[in-house]
Amino acid sequence: MKLQLSTWPDIQNYLERSDAILVPIGSTEQHGPTGLIGTDALCPQRIAEGMADEGVLVAPTLSIGMAQHHLGFPGSIALRPSTLIAVIDDVVSSLAATGFRRILFLNGHGGNIATVQAAFSEIWARSSHAGAVSPLSLKLVNWFTLPGVRALSRELYGSAEGSHATPSEISLTWFAHPEAQRQARLEPRIAPDGPIRDAADFRRRYSDGRCGSDPTLACVEHGQRFFETALNDLRDVWSDFTA
Ligand code: NI
Repeated sequence: MKLQLSTWPDIQNYLERSDAILVPIGSTEQHGPTGLIGTDALCPQRIAEGMADEGVLVAPTLSIGMAQHHLGFPGSIALRPSTLIAVIDDVVSSLAATGFRRILFLNGHGGNIATVQAAFSEIWARSSHAGAVSPLSLKLVNWFTLPGVRALSRELYGSAEGSHATPSEISLTWFAHPEAQRQARLEPRIAPDGPIRDAADFRRRYSDGRCGSDPTLACVEHGQRFFETALNDLRDVWSDFTA
């Protein structure tokens, strides 16, 4: 069940049986010479669509995230951490104002993690400082750290998975959008790895945009396995969260 394809009476009826919603969150940023700029939003969105097909209510994907370090590459769009905190706060309080109590964010971008957790702390701080009890339950889940997904990426790619423009995320986007597949000769085959600082430093260290990965290993068939594995793991997370 997708929020965008529902009416308000549909949602009123849904709220009589559940107060939980799944919110995909990602980023719009370069993913190396062969990875799509939408990768980090497309991956959680595709997995969330699988959940929507099983009756879980899914919000529109928050497609722009905390990605300042990618701004040395054209096409990247970033929210600064303070902006993303404000966005999460407003999304959560909108949902809470209309009756939702359990909000699970399905994340596709490592750079969002600290900021989303900080947004949750801002929200909790409001009730703490008021001496009130918040009725909300908030959780962040990264699709790429789900246990089955980690195991599959280790099995398929070992250390060539890397941390950015990874073969697992690129496989999943190609499963979702097979017409968008690209190939290129990448040199070195496995990209360098290291720290993440600002955009100029990132561009200097990671000249083609990849970190530690060999995305030439990606394929549609792997993408389907990542989709099915992630969906399987997420079903368990969702049933614990909504129990
Ligand atoms: Ni990514």
